[in-house]
Amino acid sequence: FRRLGLRGMKQRLLVVANRLPVSANRRGEDQWSLEISAGGLVSALLGVKDVDAKWIGWAGVNVPDEVGQQALTNALAEKRCIPVFLDEEIVHQYYNGYCNNILWPLFHYLGLPQEDRLATTRNFESQFDAYKRANQMFADVVYQHYQEGDVIWCHDYHLMFLPRCLKEHDINMKVGWFLHTPFPSSEIYRTLPSRSELLRSVLCADLVGFHTYDYARHFVSACTRILGLEGTPEGVEDQGKLTRVAAFPIGIDSDRFKRALDIDAAKRHVNELKQRFAGRKVMLGVDRLDMIKGIPQKILAFEKFLEENPEWIDKVVLLQIAVPTRTDVPEYQKLTSQVHEIVGRINGRFGTLSAVPIHHLDRSLDFHALCALYAVTDVALVTSLRDGMNLVSYEYVACQGSKKGVLILSEVSDQL
Ligand code: G6P
Repeated sequence: FRRLGLRGMKQRLLVVANRLPVSANRRGEDQWSLEISAGGLVSALLGVKDVDAKWIGWAGVNVPDEVGQQALTNALAEKRCIPVFLDEEIVHQYYNGYCNNILWPLFHYLGLPQEDRLATTRNFESQFDAYKRANQMFADVVYQHYQEGDVIWCHDYHLMFLPRCLKEHDINMKVGWFLHTPFPSSEIYRTLPSRSELLRSVLCADLVGFHTYDYARHFVSACTRILGLEGTPEGVEDQGKLTRVAAFPIGIDSDRFKRALDIDAAKRHVNELKQRFAGRKVMLGVDRLDMIKGIPQKILAFEKFLEENPEWIDKVVLLQIAVPTRTDVPEYQKLTSQVHEIVGRINGRFGTLSAVPIHHLDRSLDFHALCALYAVTDVALVTSLRDGMNLVSYEYVACQGSKKGVLILSEVSDQL
């Protein structure tokens, strides 16, 4: 905050992220229910305290009518949130297409999808065009709410074009941009057809942040190799203008998790879970159902464990909470079927009349139930194949207290 020039409570912060911290579900023409959104970005930013912040983003839902838009805007205002309304077509091209099918896999070293390897494909061009239009729509909402002196904090790979839109509107806006995923080596990043335009846009920000020093270094070397700019110890310099680049590892508000366990609902959950799994060891996975999380690999490793250690059958259970995500993207649909198939096969193979080895849930849990689960679990498995900063490991440790269970953490998860 200091580096963004934020000097305490009196200064306003506008957080801009693709997703709001709450997702909306329509219950009637002008009735909305809100629930906390899943994902590391939201978990991390819920820990930001003691600043006057408003959050601008998409509520994860298509609202074509004015009545619905007004009602949702009012409901969100109570949470200090401001919606950006995106129609189905733009969500399809910008969010499902350019963000989730191109940038996400590329930034996690999974490469570009086969059909997008050639910059000339029409698919790619129309998605990039939609990406820029969507970023401009976020910028338009920022302009409506901006007051002189506000600091604007843009988040993630969805909004790489936003710093440029903002600075073109008003060069004096204070703009930060933070990436919640890895920034890949320039050898990978340079395969992206729109590489230069996105880098130039991000460089319009005053301060650019990453989880780790390595990601910051990859970004600076991409600017040097692709744009021919000079990297300095402070950041990247272009014709006398310095964009500061630095690492700011995120964490969680661990007290929020500890406090949750003092509440009666959580204590009830803890007792129920202890009774339910008495006499068995409990292993836990909590992930969005995403290919970078290594869920099939985790489940297959569990199968191998049972195969090699049959004395553990019936004595250990794997609970996998797999929160559905990006369900309109074909790669995610394939992954869901693959995971279901593997779980069914293993439960058929090792299940008994009294118990199954894997409990797989395709949904999120409410906060107190999740904390209770973390508290009673003997082993937490974080098996990401590549991750920005996996926060489940922090949440697990925060809830374990004196229990001291085992955390098995992937070597490519960036806490290590
Ligand atoms: C990751 C990304 C976030 C994103 C979250 C959930 O943590 O870095 O920007 O919000 O995943 O994904 P979704 O596509 O549902 O917003």
